[in-house]
Amino acid sequence: MTTIGLLTAGGDCPGLNAAIRGVVTRASAAGATVVGIENGWAGLMEGRTRLVGRDDVRGISVRGGTILGTSRKDPYVHGSGLASIQPTLDTTGIEVLIVIGGDGSLRSGAMLASEGLAVIGVPKTIDNDIAGTDVSFGFGTAVQIVTDAIDRLTTTAEAHNRIMVIEVMGRHSGWIALHAGMAGGAEAILVPEVPYNLADLSARLVARHRSGRDYSIVVVAEGVVDPRGEAVTAGADILGFQRFGGVSMSIATELERLTGYETRVMILGHLQRGGTPIAFDRILAARLGIKSAELALGGQYGVMAAVRNGEIVAVDLASACAEPRLLPRSLYEEAAWFGA
Ligand code: F6P
Repeated sequence: MTTIGLLTAGGDCPGLNAAIRGVVTRASAAGATVVGIENGWAGLMEGRTRLVGRDDVRGISVRGGTILGTSRKDPYVHGSGLASIQPTLDTTGIEVLIVIGGDGSLRSGAMLASEGLAVIGVPKTIDNDIAGTDVSFGFGTAVQIVTDAIDRLTTTAEAHNRIMVIEVMGRHSGWIALHAGMAGGAEAILVPEVPYNLADLSARLVARHRSGRDYSIVVVAEGVVDPRGEAVTAGADILGFQRFGGVSMSIATELERLTGYETRVMILGHLQRGGTPIAFDRILAARLGIKSAELALGGQYGVMAAVRNGEIVAVDLASACAEPRLLPRSLYEEAAWFGA
């Protein structure tokens, strides 16, 4: 019977364990063996694997994180591609690899597929920027976490007549910022797709405060760019991964200077990725996991399980993750009415 390798790679997100459970439950029912690979691609490069059966995944859907572990190690960035993982594939007998990952991990999966490896992708990310699927699991939970934070920060901003700048994750796209900002009734939402203009924003905030609503919530995606197209980064980590985070500090300082209103900052960071997934994400993750196992059992490789118009389908892996899905301008303009 088929031996399936399963890994979770890149930034973790709520729902990963539901996806793992979906894969293992469906594959085990068909008599297939699932080899769990520890800590993402690192496990394949370093030979760290363990068998994962039905009993190992009972009750894990409610848990955040991933029972397999993850990392930002990459077979092409930190190795030589297929050659770097071939020894582990040989010793474990893995015939097909299921990669649960974001755009970067899925692109590496597509490159391995082009080198001849049987690969199936499952999209995950709180950023919701994987173009090949209508929505990614993890996104809904992150939006709810940020919305809950906006609700709490609104009462303290109102108490002090302050501007509260809330920074959320989102490197290339502002899906989290826009949806949580809409849900939370933010006065302004800054996203990477639209360069921000602090003079215009300050004028809007002053007009709002003078009209009697003398507090404001400004939601900022970490990857926003100024009129020159410049983002604020926090330098690369030891694996060379470019960190974002901190742009809100300079934005808050400038807003306070331009408006004359007290301004404070809240950087939500990894809170957006932690804890139990909402029901929607558990269900979507499990459906994608089940589909990916069926694709593996059916010998359909070089594809990604995706949700399209509510249906779980297989799409071409390489094209599904070639470019990030950015916010449509129409949705950005619609959001402006939520904070009016
Ligand atoms: O890719 C998802 C993501 O959460 C981004 O929104 C964020 O910039 C990044 O991961 C943070 O990565 P790390 O957990 O490695 O710092």
